[in-house]
Amino acid sequence: MADPRFRRILIKLSGEALQGDQGYGISPPVLESIAEQIHEVTELGVEVAIVIGGGNIFRGVRASAQGMDRASADYMGMLATCINSMALQDALEAQGLPTRVQTALEIKEIAEPYIRRRAIRHLEKGRVVIFGAGTGNPYFTTDTAASLRAMEMHCQAILKATKVDGVYDSDPASNPDAKRFETLEHSEVLQQQLNVMDSTAIAMCRDNQMPIIVFNLYEKGNIRRAVLGEKVGTLVGTL
Ligand code: GTP
Repeated sequence: MADPRFRRILIKLSGEALQGDQGYGISPPVLESIAEQIHEVTELGVEVAIVIGGGNIFRGVRASAQGMDRASADYMGMLATCINSMALQDALEAQGLPTRVQTALEIKEIAEPYIRRRAIRHLEKGRVVIFGAGTGNPYFTTDTAASLRAMEMHCQAILKATKVDGVYDSDPASNPDAKRFETLEHSEVLQQQLNVMDSTAIAMCRDNQMPIIVFNLYEKGNIRRAVLGEKVGTLVGTL
């Protein structure tokens, strides 16, 4: 069997990743393809934690820019991440993978509440653990939730799934000369205000030496390649 580079990882998926090209909500074929990629990685014996955003359903920042109270809007966004967590759990279970959803806001009837030591036991038993409701606090993003949970779970890296194949010096969608970075330091991301994760999340990763691999989710097999230590996308920090 191939020898994975990591024993335990946290995958950060954006909510938009689930919507495919339909522009809103959850696309079952896209969800299935993400679940297949995660399945491949668990077959290598790697323990997988997942944090998922909610932007395909509701964006707190956008709603607050339009006048809604920021805290209320953020709580609505957290509920959106719970919907995505349940959808992903369903897709992973359809692949035969044992999973547990834990939420930072208590919704006991549908998911376990977040309990750090219990989540670690789930990972040790080979269950994919999906963390919903962000950090449970408004004003924090799901990127920050990903950093926090990666630290708490003692993950060896964050795999940040995006629509592009790494971090660029400018937007590759609008600038054909945009240059992709192979590696970066966390401090460079902050200084150059590069679009990787928000500054709170990056600063936490910098302070705790947590590497981040930014890669294109839509290239099949990328999660597996990253886990096997192959060069994929952009590495922030050092492995
Ligand atoms: P072990 O203790 O390692 O056997 O873990 P386990 O998760 O299988 O044990 P448990 O008996 O606690 O959970 C059985 C099922 O109930 C799992 O699918 C859990 O996700 C689920 N479950 C546990 N606690 C809660 C809860 O507070 N709310 C909800 N909705 N489900 C829960």
